[in-house]
Amino acid sequence: MTATTPPPLPADLNEGLKRLKMAAMRRLAPELLVTAKTQRWKPEEFLRTLIEAEIASRDESNVRTRMRQAAFPVTKTLAEFDVAASSIPAATFDYLSSLEWIRAAENVCMIGPAGTGKSHTLIALGIAGVEAGHRVRYFTAADLVETLYRGLADNSVGKVIDNLLRNDLILVDELGFAPLDDTGAQLLFRFVAAAYERRSLGIGSHWPFESWGRFLPEHTTAVSMLDRLLHHCHTVVTDGDSYRMRQARANGGTRLKTN
Ligand SMILES: Nc1ncnc2c1ncn2[C@@H]1O[C@H](COP(=O)(O)OP(=O)(O)O)[C@@H](O)[C@H]1O
Ligand SMILES: [Mg+2]
Repeated sequence: MTATTPPPLPADLNEGLKRLKMAAMRRLAPELLVTAKTQRWKPEEFLRTLIEAEIASRDESNVRTRMRQAAFPVTKTLAEFDVAASSIPAATFDYLSSLEWIRAAENVCMIGPAGTGKSHTLIALGIAGVEAGHRVRYFTAADLVETLYRGLADNSVGKVIDNLLRNDLILVDELGFAPLDDTGAQLLFRFVAAAYERRSLGIGSHWPFESWGRFLPEHTTAVSMLDRLLHHCHTVVTDGDSYRMRQARANGGTRLKTN
């Protein structure tokens, strides 16, 4: 609260800004008019300040909207990730953090055992992507296949895929947790093929590529899917102990026999 409340905007200006949905301008204008008068601002300076405030407020609200639409299951950031404690080479992590691969519609595959930072990295890259202005959507593979299946029910798989591909980056985590049936695998292949060279996919799986036959019923589907996925792909193999386990041990908790 300021000591003196600035006089309200003239009603016509207030109404005009309301109709144009210039919420930030409408909020700031009364006080800014006072400042501009007392400090003898140039008219352009006044206008610029108002416009910049409106743009900043819209950008922020767009980020919030895209963040919600991305449906991240948790919030993880690149800054929180301890690269040195992971098996991801610093140069690889830096490159991924640059988000250049999203602009180039390339893929990222994170492959490695549980607790080695696959989901953290994917989500953090997704969040950085949203902050940089990209549209991102997070799925577990099971949720994605379920979404595609629903399209099958009313013959709208093509439309469902088109909608998904409005995103610049689609994260498909936990691929291979559950085996896919024939139809599920076909749907997933259709999606991967549609995204090929058009959008970025970020895949997380604990199965090395040569084992993808374990959750993809048909050998040819596995081969064709990997062919599309890996053509423009940054593959990151994470290994080592589970970060969760290491923390539990550091806290004096779980003891695991390692040999
Ligand atoms: N290098 C790391 N630095 C900071 N936190 C980490 C790191 N690796 C893993 N974690 C944390 O450990 C937990 C498990 O990591 P997660 O990415 O979910 O593993 P994965 O998906 O490979 O199973 C998460 O809470 C994650 O934030
Ligand atoms: Mg995970």
